Amino acid sequence: MTETKWRLVIHGGAGSERIAHDNADHEASARAGLGEALDAGSTILANGGTAVDAVEAAARTLEENPCFNAGRGSVLTEQGKVELDAAIMDGRDRSAGAVSGIKTTRAPISLARRLMEHGPHVFLAGTAADRFAAGAGIEQVPNDFFILPERRRQLEEALAAGQEADPIKYGTVGAVAVDVQGNVAAATSTGGITAKRWGRVGDSPLIGAGTYADNRAAAISATGSGEYFIRAVAAHQLAERMRLGGETLQQAIDNVLADIESIGGRGGLIAVAPTGDAAWGFTTPAMYRGMADAAGRTVAIYSGDDAR
Ligand code: GLY
Repeated sequence: MTETKWRLVIHGGAGSERIAHDNADHEASARAGLGEALDAGSTILANGGTAVDAVEAAARTLEENPCFNAGRGSVLTEQGKVELDAAIMDGRDRSAGAVSGIKTTRAPISLARRLMEHGPHVFLAGTAADRFAAGAGIEQVPNDFFILPERRRQLEEALAAGQEADPIKYGTVGAVAVDVQGNVAAATSTGGITAKRWGRVGDSPLIGAGTYADNRAAAISATGSGEYFIRAVAAHQLAERMRLGGETLQQAIDNVLADIESIGGRGGLIAVAPTGDAAWGFTTPAMYRGMADAAGRTVAIYSGDDAR
């Protein structure tokens, strides 16, 4: 039996071309952060570890990096708090764990994984989810831990403009992987969108919208205007285009993004198949992204930035 080649693909959010940040070194820091996340997941996969372990490690690394809108450095709600969403899925048996409205759990993706493996439920929301995390011994932090001054400034700008900020401006993080056994997994984690209202849940934690994994098709993570990805059931649509429609990974990505655009949404998708194929696509000017396999790794931000 031939061994599948492992592969890891990550994103750090889709957005505008030259994203304005207080930190002039933001772009270099973001590229370095993408590289660190690829290294965290690749080390696991190169040593024969599972796709689930790899996507959790990659997403966890991005959650800890303040350059990205997940974990510390997340965007703020209308009330000036951080509320986090995350999901993880294992393509072997389509087991999944998801959380939304997290306020004190430092590692939302690890909480989602804990839920996936120890249930009994698939999806927990709000204070109850943080309580579940505390009970499971998962680190709790004050909500202020997640908040950076730059995100306060962005919230103030959005509120002064009297509207929610461009929902695709500051991203989300995600990882998809195929391991040497040919199993796929997906993980997505986000702070959502700036100035989001009470209880708003985006596509990221919704299984089939922003996150999906099925060994019969692919593992997928989305970034972009979540409301549209929910309405398109984007990640599940992509998998079923492959499984039932016979589309290739790239065709399925392009067709799902076109479907989302047809209803007014923009963003990006990353995906890997159990065969080892990997692809991405985005309808925004930029998407923070990276790919790694046994031959090396590449990180990119803008269109046409993909040379290894
Ligand atoms: N795509 C992330 C969100 O809309 O929350």
